[in-house]
Amino acid sequence: MPKNIVILISGRGSNMQSIVNAQIAGAQIAAVISNRPDAAGLAWAAERGITTAVLDHKAFVGRDAFDAALQNLIDGFAPDLVVLAGFMRILTADFVNHYANRLINVHPSLLPAFIGVNTHQRAIDEGVKLAGCTVHFVTAELDSGPIIAQAAVPVLLDDSADSLAQRILQQEHQLYPKVVQWFVAGQLEVQGSRVRVSTANNAAAFLQAPGG
Ligand code: GAR
Repeated sequence: MPKNIVILISGRGSNMQSIVNAQIAGAQIAAVISNRPDAAGLAWAAERGITTAVLDHKAFVGRDAFDAALQNLIDGFAPDLVVLAGFMRILTADFVNHYANRLINVHPSLLPAFIGVNTHQRAIDEGVKLAGCTVHFVTAELDSGPIIAQAAVPVLLDDSADSLAQRILQQEHQLYPKVVQWFVAGQLEVQGSRVRVSTANNAAAFLQAPGG
């Protein structure tokens, strides 16, 4: 039985595209759902025959009502895994707990640094030399939860937020499908705040670093 994957987006959906394009064995993209009707990624998915749905958060009064409706919509697709791919909504604890250990997110920083938004500009402003992205299981606190994999990129002296974002995004596109593949293959093991990846390769698989 293939594993059902539901991907949530809010915009461009390039991470969603990288996961779809990876054609992961044993995975079926059951649906792509957006909270914004104008999300560009929706058309891209629909063109490929993937089921799409929109649940506009503006039509709901309060986070609880939206998240309850979203959960209902997602559960209609019987997901084994829910993938947040640029889904720009803070989720309630009830929602997150409902998908414990089957909800993952990609965040454009080396967590736990730079939680929240504007991660690239903040990294530049702080003068850090390494930035990157993190894929993690989602828990109730914002941008927290057991870290599955990270990719690091150097911050260059002439970087703008856009150029840094671009370089990190390339890493996201490599890292996220890899994590989904591990999940689908049953290779991820959560041990408290730590995640073990049992790949045939080696434990270093979950770190991508410059020159690595
Ligand atoms: C990605 O860079 C992702 O890491 C970020 O939004 C972008 C979405 O791009 N997510 C967050 O900031 C979540 N906190 P995409 O729509 O092209 O995948």
